[in-house]
Amino acid sequence: MLLVLLFFCWFLLGQGSAQQCRLVSPQNFVASPAPVSSQTPTQTANIASQSSSFATQSSSTASSTPTLSTFDYGTDPVRGVNLGGWFVLEPWITPTLFQNLNDSDIVDEFTMGQMMDNDTALDVLQGHWNSWITEDDFQAIKAAGLNHVRMQIGYWSVPLTSSDTNYTRNVDPYIPGAWPYLLKALNWAKQYGLHVILDLHGAPGSQNGYDNSGHRTNNVNWASDDVSVPRTLDIIKFIASNLGGMIDILELINEPGGFVSAINNALPGYYKDGYQIVRDAAGNDLRIMIMDGFLGVDAWQDFLTYPSAQGVLMDTHEYQIFNYPQLQLSFDEHINYSCQVLSQLSSYAKSNIYTIIGEWTTAPTDCAKWLNGRNIGARWDGTWQSGQPTFGSCNGMSGNMSAFSSDYKTFLRKYYEAQVAIGEAIQGWVYWTWKVENADDWSYQRGLEGGWIPQDPTDRIYPNICSNS
Ligand SMILES: *[C@@H]1O[C@H](CO)[C@@H](O)[C@H](O)[C@H]1NC(C)=O
Ligand SMILES: *[C@@H]1O[C@H](CO)[C@@H](O)[C@H](O)[C@H]1NC(C)=O
Ligand SMILES: *[C@@H]1O[C@H](CO)[C@@H](O)[C@H](O)[C@H]1NC(C)=O
Ligand SMILES: *[C@@H]1O[C@H](CO)[C@@H](O)[C@H](O)[C@H]1NC(C)=O
Ligand SMILES: *[C@@H]1O[C@H](CO)[C@@H](O)[C@H](O)[C@H]1NC(C)=O
Repeated sequence: MLLVLLFFCWFLLGQGSAQQCRLVSPQNFVASPAPVSSQTPTQTANIASQSSSFATQSSSTASSTPTLSTFDYGTDPVRGVNLGGWFVLEPWITPTLFQNLNDSDIVDEFTMGQMMDNDTALDVLQGHWNSWITEDDFQAIKAAGLNHVRMQIGYWSVPLTSSDTNYTRNVDPYIPGAWPYLLKALNWAKQYGLHVILDLHGAPGSQNGYDNSGHRTNNVNWASDDVSVPRTLDIIKFIASNLGGMIDILELINEPGGFVSAINNALPGYYKDGYQIVRDAAGNDLRIMIMDGFLGVDAWQDFLTYPSAQGVLMDTHEYQIFNYPQLQLSFDEHINYSCQVLSQLSSYAKSNIYTIIGEWTTAPTDCAKWLNGRNIGARWDGTWQSGQPTFGSCNGMSGNMSAFSSDYKTFLRKYYEAQVAIGEAIQGWVYWTWKVENADDWSYQRGLEGGWIPQDPTDRIYPNICSNS
C-alpha cells in the first residue's frame, strides 16, 4: 500500500505540483469499523506513567502575563483550531492579499520575497500579521468552547543570532519579521486561557514542496542537502529555549513528505535528535509533537514511547479530497471513511503515544479557490487536470455559504460531528482552519455563523454517527 502511495506522489510531483500528495493512505478504507460510542480514552500503564511525570505546572517566562494552568493531556480532549495562513501565507486562505500584489507569478511566500521589492513586501506582510488574526479572534475561539490553538511559523521568521548556530542564518529570499507578532499572539492565548501547539510549518529547503511550507517546488530538499536538517535542529533549539514557558507543545516539523525517500530516511533521526534538544533546552514540561509524515501512525510503532522518551505526542492529518478516489466518495461514504480511521488511531494511541488529529476539515471537495495552488483549478469540476474524472460543479460547494443548500449544511454538520467524535476517542482534534477569506466550507468561524459547527463543540445532533456507518 505504501508503495502505491509513494508511486502516486512521485508521479504527481513529476506533474509539477506536490499539493495533492497531502493525502491519507488508502489503507484506511479496509480498516474494520469501530463504533465511536464504545470508545473511551482509556490509558495504558505506559501512557499513564508518561502523564504523571508531567504533572508539574509550566512556568511563565513573562511575569506580566497571566499564568495558564497545565493542560491535562490524555484526560481532557484537545479541542482546537489552527490559525492557518497567518505567519505562513497560503494563497487559498488569503487570495486577495496575493491578487493585490499585481503579479500572478507570486504563488507563495518564497516567490513573494523573490519578486517584490523588500520594503513593499514587508509592508504588506506587517499589515497582514497585524490584521488577519486579532485579539478578538482569540476571544471568539475561547467563546466557541475550544481549548487549543495550533500556530504555524516559518524558519525564516525565527531570529537566530550568530551564537545560536554555526550554519547560515541567511533566509533569502524570504522576508523575516513575524516573530514579535507571534510573541504577541502567545500572550493573547494566555490571556484567553488557550493552550498552544506551535508547529514549524516551513523548514529550510522545504519539507514537502507545498506552498504552505513557504515554497511551492518540485525540489523538496530539506533532507537532501547536508545542512538543512542540522540547521532545523538549531532553529528548534532556539524556539524551545525562547518560548518554552509560553507554549504547551512544540511540533518539530509540519507535514514532512515521507513520500520522498531522503525525508523518509532522515525523519526518525531528526525526531530523536529534536526530542533530546528540546528536553535539554526547555526541560520536561514542554511537550513535543511529531507528525506521521503521511506514512500513517502505524509506521511509528514503539517510537519515542515511554520510558525511552516522555511527553511526546503524535500528530496525524485527515483529508479526503486530494486525490480522485477519495473525491469520488459520496457524502455518506466520507463519513464512513472517517469512522473507519478510528480503530487504527485508537489502537496506536493506546499502545504508543497520545495522538491527536492536528488538521482536518469539513470540506468534501477541493473547490476552494487556489486550494491546489495559485492559478491551479480543482479536480472536482475538471478545471485542473484533463482526462480525469469530474464530480460536478463547484457552485455551492465552497466560497460564500449563502450559496450552500440546506442538505449540504446538514452534511457539513454530520461530517463535523463524526470527525470530532473520532478526535475525542483519541486525545483530541485541531480543525483546519479558523479563518479563510472566501471558502466557508473550510472556516470554523463561518461554520459557527452558518450553524453547521455548534457553539459548544460537545453538542451533538448525531450522537451515534459512527455506529450508523
Ligand atoms: C497594485 O496595483 C494597484 C493599482 O494600480 C496599486 O494601487 C497597488 O499599490 C499595487 N500593489 C503593489 C503591491 O504594488
Ligand atoms: C559552533 O562551533 C563551535 C566550535 O566547534 C562550538 O564550540 C559551538 O558550540 C558551536 N555552536 C553551535 C550553536 O552549535
Ligand atoms: C532584500 O533584497 C536583497 C536583494 O536586493 C537581498 O539580498 C536581501 O537579503 C533581501 N532581504 C532582506 C530581508 O533584507
Ligand atoms: C462503510 O464501510 C464499510 C467497510 O468498508 C462498508 O462495509 C460499509 O458498507 C460502508 N458503509 C457505507 C454507508 O458506505
Ligand atoms: C456572502 O454573501 C452574502 C449575500 O450575498 C453577502 O451579504 C456577504 O457579504 C457575503 N460574504 C462574504 C464574506 O463575501
